Amino acid sequence: MTASAAAFSAADWRETLNTYLRDEIGKVDQQPQLQASMAYSLLAGGKRIRPLLYLATVAAYQEIVPEVDLAIAGSIELVHTYSLIHDDLPAMDNDDYRRGRPTNHRQFGEAMAILAGDGLLTLAFQWLGRLSLPQAGQLCGILATASGPQGMVAGQAIDIHQTGTSLDSLAAVAQLDALKTGALLTAPFQLAACRLNLSLPTSASLVDFGHHFGVAFQIFDDLQDIHSTAAKMGKAVHKDQEEGKNTYPAQLGVVGAQQALAAQVAAAQTALAALPENWQGLQQFLRYFDGEIK
Ligand code: IPE
Ligand code: IPE
Ligand code: MG
Ligand code: MG
Ligand code: MG
Repeated sequence: MTASAAAFSAADWRETLNTYLRDEIGKVDQQPQLQASMAYSLLAGGKRIRPLLYLATVAAYQEIVPEVDLAIAGSIELVHTYSLIHDDLPAMDNDDYRRGRPTNHRQFGEAMAILAGDGLLTLAFQWLGRLSLPQAGQLCGILATASGPQGMVAGQAIDIHQTGTSLDSLAAVAQLDALKTGALLTAPFQLAACRLNLSLPTSASLVDFGHHFGVAFQIFDDLQDIHSTAAKMGKAVHKDQEEGKNTYPAQLGVVGAQQALAAQVAAAQTALAALPENWQGLQQFLRYFDGEIK
């Protein structure tokens, strides 16, 4: 597919990616209930922010975006969707709704939801491993580090272990958010930097942007839990506070958390300003936070 750097259309690419994901999950038909359970969550209409960040970064650098990049973008979404299915399980956050539908375990039962998560996670590495690119092995390593026990899974472990016990500093909450959410939002830039053989300074600025975007993303999510916006997706409201989750609003209050969010967005903007002109299209992703920045 052809892409112009300045005019990256998130809506068009979301559509292209959704078609790719639908076609590819349709081929994973070894066991029909497992396939239905994986497809149910994968095709439930997520925002696709992580794969879009990857595609926007690649599109800024080269005019033609080949199908291998849809596989790389899709692999991030597979891992993200698995993380949501497991995050919602009764043993984790025990949530009933996700992406506007009953959660996977409510629809398919807990055992199949666990297996759907397992399936999506491993499928991501199947997609990366089969790429005929010299960087395929490195791409697997990058996604594994971001998703696994040194990334998202570590953050989820801190989240679960500390629920009901307040972390003793804002820095500790920042570290929690950087791991559970920031790692998978930084991965698109690390993957793109590897795929495109970008210079070290450019990679560092992109990763810096991803890090601040990621922490901002979790602060925004935590603020949505307080505001009625969460209810629009059928999600429970005020659940983080009831459960004793460690969040920026819990540490700083709503206004303090909004200020911290604005500071993260400003830091992301600074990282972006250090990048060449062709990446300024990433600016559009920061609009996501507008509603919470006063
Ligand atoms: C939700 O992620 C979980 C967090 C990391 C805060 P998204 O807000 O990206 O969820 P989808 O993919 O659009 O459903
Ligand atoms: C999500 O954090 C972290 C993940 C890695 C999935 P939350 O638990 O706050 O996300 P939501 O609110 O359930 O989407
Ligand atoms: Mg959680
Ligand atoms: Mg949750
Ligand atoms: Mg949340």
